Amino acid sequence: PTPTLHAENGVLTLESLSLPQIAEQYGTPTYVYSRAALTSAFDAWKQALSGRKALVCYAVKANSNLGVLSVFAQLGAGFDIVSGGELARVLAAGGRADRVVFSGVGKTRSEMRQALLAGIRCFNVESATELERLDAVAAELGKTAPIALRVNPNVDPKTHPYISTGLKDNKFGVAFADAQSLYRRAATLPNLHIAGIACHIGSQLLDPAPVAEAAQKVADLVDRLAADGIVLEHIDLGGGLGIRYRDEAPPSVAQYLAPLLKVFEGRKEELCFEPGRSLVGNAGLLLTRIEYLKPGETKNFAIVDAAMNDLARPALYDAWHEVVEVVERDVATQTYDIVGPICESGDFLARGRELAAAEGDLLAILSAGAYGMTMSSNYNTRPRAAEVIVDGKQSHLVRERESVSALFADEKPLS
Ligand code: LLP
Repeated sequence: PTPTLHAENGVLTLESLSLPQIAEQYGTPTYVYSRAALTSAFDAWKQALSGRKALVCYAVKANSNLGVLSVFAQLGAGFDIVSGGELARVLAAGGRADRVVFSGVGKTRSEMRQALLAGIRCFNVESATELERLDAVAAELGKTAPIALRVNPNVDPKTHPYISTGLKDNKFGVAFADAQSLYRRAATLPNLHIAGIACHIGSQLLDPAPVAEAAQKVADLVDRLAADGIVLEHIDLGGGLGIRYRDEAPPSVAQYLAPLLKVFEGRKEELCFEPGRSLVGNAGLLLTRIEYLKPGETKNFAIVDAAMNDLARPALYDAWHEVVEVVERDVATQTYDIVGPICESGDFLARGRELAAAEGDLLAILSAGAYGMTMSSNYNTRPRAAEVIVDGKQSHLVRERESVSALFADEKPLS
């Protein structure tokens, strides 16, 4: 799934660096990203939108490493954030505040202040009370807050229930039926500037149809608002484009956008998008080493040095990640569950996989660039993995492996 990953004489190589070299230099477990893959994923979005006034706002939650953010900032990306912390990261990585949109149902007053002072492009407001709060916070600062209402188009994205967000019973956005009156209300609030409208229906979407359906609903609403004298500058269609983990056949960016762009043909609003997974998912892998091979009565286990605290998706969503041997080995293939050292049966990275491997071998867990490191934890007092970006023949350590002392540096024993 990673375009820049290939085998050279039986050794997996990312761009021009072999994975054993990277493991040697930085240890394991390590997240390894390819700059060329990040760039080509971003270019695919740019290409598909060329000729259209559009802004691609990378969804920071997918992978918030400063190195990754800086690559996108240099490519001219905007950013979709969901916290003050993510805003701080974007600014630290050289991202432009005036290209930041702020999503999320729970923005605190202090996050609103931080974003207003930074001068972000738009707040994607998710409730009536948030609208009032934002107006008040902006008044205190003597600022005007640019807003979009995130509407909930009630479209089924046909994806995993945990990551579908545009249905009626989700906590996200405002009900479609309430949108017009909320816009009218927003128009009366003196410290708000109505800039646009936003929607996001779900993640890992493999079918462009529901997105186009949502887009059509949004376009119709935009027309009704215009008839009301509320004219929008931009339409934010969220993120969600899926990637191939196993045998999925996601549409290309161009295929995904085609029916949607048709809906907006001839319209002059700027289009914004918030892709996360499709920009980083297949640009990264998790490099891990086999500590033990443990034959069992009914199952064989490959116990590796990465675990559910590093990559939570298999445990959390039963997600499938491809696992490959880093060095081809001439031993008999066996079926293994690939598990970590954590004291939970849910601590697996993959189950029932054929591997030709020995203790001490390296494995690459693919498609781990999105929602990997950002969802990691320190469970079992495990320091988080290092992160490395490969760029041609060079590698950059963009996050050092955490030290154990740092894990409890902010704690105190009682006397
Ligand atoms: N915009 C909003 C408002 C979102 O809620 C999300 C993702 C995105 C954009 C980016 O969506 P993407 O292009 O990455 O699909 N942890 C889950 C995914 C959660 C997605 C949450 N929202 C996973 O590992 O599959």
